[in-house]
Amino acid sequence: METLNDIAALDRFRPRAGEIVLIPTMGALHAGHASLIQHGAKLAEARGGSCVVWIFVNPTQFNDPADYARYPKTLDADLAICKSSGARGVFVPSKDEIYPPGRTVRVPELPRVATQPGLEDARRPGHFAGVCQVVLRFFEIVKPKVAVFGEKDWQQLQVVRAMTRREMPGVEIAPMPTVREPDGLAMSSRNRFLTAEDRVKALAISKALRVAGGEASPKRAEAVMGDVLNEAGISPEYAVVRDAETLEERETESQRALIAAKVGNVRLIDNVAWPVRG
Ligand code: PAJ
Repeated sequence: METLNDIAALDRFRPRAGEIVLIPTMGALHAGHASLIQHGAKLAEARGGSCVVWIFVNPTQFNDPADYARYPKTLDADLAICKSSGARGVFVPSKDEIYPPGRTVRVPELPRVATQPGLEDARRPGHFAGVCQVVLRFFEIVKPKVAVFGEKDWQQLQVVRAMTRREMPGVEIAPMPTVREPDGLAMSSRNRFLTAEDRVKALAISKALRVAGGEASPKRAEAVMGDVLNEAGISPEYAVVRDAETLEERETESQRALIAAKVGNVRLIDNVAWPVRG
């Protein structure tokens, strides 16, 4: 595995790489990221290409400078995970290379799903503009055939899909299911900031999603999620059932239950397909 510290190193790697399957991350890697890399390595192998992980904590997508400042940095452990998961390259560029001083890096026109649903878009103003900006910038630099994204960040997945379809239709977006702790908590780089007490409390989020799955209507499902969370002492930012692709409030064939909530001072998000049949 090669660590590529700048664009020049990436360009030297490219002739040996073949088609690139890209795994975008901000580092602080865990088993959720590892599953994306393993899947990417398989896809790359089938194409005679290479799986490349990008590690870059993107300043433009953070609403809260304190959140950016405390974002965990664990590069040595990250590189070990990339290697054992089958990555051929890890691209770790500096901030100045991605955002050259004095140059404007284009923010693409945002798709409706990045501005309309009133979920992450409303709670984290500017967040998806930053995500679209950095994803497009990396796609233009790396030129992947496929990029793998996790369902854990469901709205992000829909935003990136819609943005890519418009801006770089040659890039395929491959989704991967959410990896959970044995007790149900969705894995996240932020879980490490939970106190022992809040770690227990946080279980109410995956429980609420599970219980909602058996309800007969979106309204009932939303009410039940609210109840489970309130019982645990959590007041969610949202706990809703929406169309899975547009995240608008419409009853459709394919829907998704989504929750965002602060537990202590840690903001957590999770989602599942709704309803759960059988
Ligand atoms: P980050 O939070 O590091 O996540 C990188 C990728 O890992 C995302 O596609 C995310 O959905 C996926 N992921 C995180 N936790 C997961 C889990 N428990 N199971 C499965 N997949 C999981 O998302 C970002 O970084 C950034 O916004 C980025 C796209 C890199 C742009 O800066």
